[in-house]
Amino acid sequence: MDHTQEAEKKIKSLKKKIQNYNAQYYENHRSVVTDYTFDQLLAELQSLEQKYPQYQTQDSPTARVGGQVDKKYKTIAHQYPMLSLSNTYSEEEIKNFVARVKKLSDHPTTLTFVCELKFDGVAVSITYQNGLLKHAVTRGDGTQGDIITQHIQRIPHIPKKIIPSPTADLIEVRGEVFMPKAVFEKINQQRIQNQSTPWSNPRNTASGTLKTLNPQMVADRSLDVYFYALPTPLPHIKTHAASIQQLIQWKFRVSPTYTVCKDIEDIMDYIAFWEKKKREMPLDIDGIVIKVNEIAHQQKLNFTAKSPRWAIAYKYTPTTANTFLKKVSYQIGRTGVITPVAHIQPIHLAGTIVQKASLHNASYIKNLELHLEDKVTIAKGGDIIPKIIAVDKNQKRGEKHIRITFPIYCPACHTTLIRTGEEKNIFCPNHLHCTPQIKGKIAHYAQKKAMNIAALGNKTIDLLFEKKWISCPADLYDLSLEKICQLEGFQQLAAKNLLKGIDYSKKIPFEKVLFSLGIRYVGITAAKKLAQYFKNIDQLIRASFEKLMEVPDIGEKIAASVQNYFQKSDNINHILRLKNAGIQLEIYPENKTFVLKKYPFFQDKKMVISGVFEKYNRIFLKNKLEGYGSKVMTSITTKTDYLLIGHQPGARKISEAKKHHVKIIDEQALEKFFSDNER
Ligand code: IVH
Repeated sequence: MDHTQEAEKKIKSLKKKIQNYNAQYYENHRSVVTDYTFDQLLAELQSLEQKYPQYQTQDSPTARVGGQVDKKYKTIAHQYPMLSLSNTYSEEEIKNFVARVKKLSDHPTTLTFVCELKFDGVAVSITYQNGLLKHAVTRGDGTQGDIITQHIQRIPHIPKKIIPSPTADLIEVRGEVFMPKAVFEKINQQRIQNQSTPWSNPRNTASGTLKTLNPQMVADRSLDVYFYALPTPLPHIKTHAASIQQLIQWKFRVSPTYTVCKDIEDIMDYIAFWEKKKREMPLDIDGIVIKVNEIAHQQKLNFTAKSPRWAIAYKYTPTTANTFLKKVSYQIGRTGVITPVAHIQPIHLAGTIVQKASLHNASYIKNLELHLEDKVTIAKGGDIIPKIIAVDKNQKRGEKHIRITFPIYCPACHTTLIRTGEEKNIFCPNHLHCTPQIKGKIAHYAQKKAMNIAALGNKTIDLLFEKKWISCPADLYDLSLEKICQLEGFQQLAAKNLLKGIDYSKKIPFEKVLFSLGIRYVGITAAKKLAQYFKNIDQLIRASFEKLMEVPDIGEKIAASVQNYFQKSDNINHILRLKNAGIQLEIYPENKTFVLKKYPFFQDKKMVISGVFEKYNRIFLKNKLEGYGSKVMTSITTKTDYLLIGHQPGARKISEAKKHHVKIIDEQALEKFFSDNER
């Protein structure tokens, strides 16, 4: 066979394979291969077709959108075809895209882009006629789709009416319907309990739900939607960002994660930022979408048969590797929850050597049917803890393969472990005497977000615990300089420093004290709400379950946990000791103004943020700064006071800051300002 014959054969086989995967994906909601493998096959086919155009056919999956209309449903033609996005896993290709788009622009220096997350769900198009919802349609084959109006109306906050436009009778909006990850996990847990096969992923489950003939399922399964496009041209809308603003004004749900980018640096910042943060989103994100912002330029660039030339998707490369399971150990958290940890044969993964991987909880191990020496797949992306995501189903197990069973007794204090009814966690109930729990509670109390006793790290906690001087946070306030100086490695200065930190914690406001107590499920936000509502600890201790439920955003789970905590006499005694030590157990009346008056560093300052921050996602950082009275701007001018930089800040931002003599602050310095300000 010569080269051309070989190419023809390969093209045919790739086409068949991809068509088969497409059919499984769009019609049966099944992913037979990962998205990454699928995209690689498609890219291979595309490059072969480019090299041998004589074998390119109309029906090739590279020339068509993958889906098909469903025969069960009434269909309707789209007013504007619903196309795909060309995608890439390479930053180089994003640079090429930006360069290409700029080259074709009449105003390359002022051209802007919008970066958005690529939501992994099911595309929907909704048409409004004279302001009233007319129909909702799936993507189908890109030209026509299935009518799913009834289904879509079961999603909360879908506007039934919008303000009609004087220039267009029909207005079409587009978005992505999805199943939140938390809902998916809950449903799957239930399925496992009922011995049903768990569903494979939230996207396929959402897609299947839209295909059921009972629209109520959409509500029962809590499907949700994010809108991201307004294909109907409207004269007042000149940019994609303006169309998003219009969607927001019409009360469509839009994810606040989109950003206008001026150049490739901004785009790369966005890519790097969301690579780390995407898992904090309530839904799966499989990449980002970069769109030309100016509609006039979008129109000039136009479409190919399959996708717009003015947009591209950048997909994050999943990082997985295979290795062997050597041992499972068990960590005991401050609340007594036991977390299994897998020790694996070390492997290189995403630039680091991985030796340990997360196993979440007992049911995770059970579902994997994990055995020692099993061949396992480890996944790691960005900064997440590596985890075991699969066990090789085809391996042959022998004698050395011993089934992993969860321990019955606490590995630290040997108390019989407990599994509560509705929870998948197994925990040790010996909260007063189990060493890792005691140390964990003290570390939680001392951490920065809590009582901020910086000098009290884990090593010092170990030393103090060994001397039997501390077994709960209140014991910290009985420590003396004399005692601390007896600790190994503690000179006068270090000892004084520790005491100063402990003393300073008496100024920490009530809401943080409440968080520091480590009441199960009471995180920073819940603690704040409870503190604001009850004003002091005595009222909170006395609160009935019903009263607790009256607090905004406090549900049954937290209310029950709070009640349970205060029903234990040793917790009440502990609080009394904290009270005697002078800890703030009621809210300080003008907390915020006090902070701002005394530490005006942030007040009225104009800030610009660039780069990726270790501790903050950008939206959070912006909110925090604004809470302190700063103004956060996107570009540097002579009026800017500070440029805050994380990792890989934009080079242009730095040079502009230098040009305008704007002070540059890195994350470490920023942290210091925050901690001074929050004291
Ligand atoms: S814009 C012409 N923006 O990705 C295509 N699509 O591969 C315009 N998607 O069918 C689509 N997030 O289902 C766009 N922020 C986003 C998106 C997004 C997810 C999906 C959508 C589309 C598919 C294209």
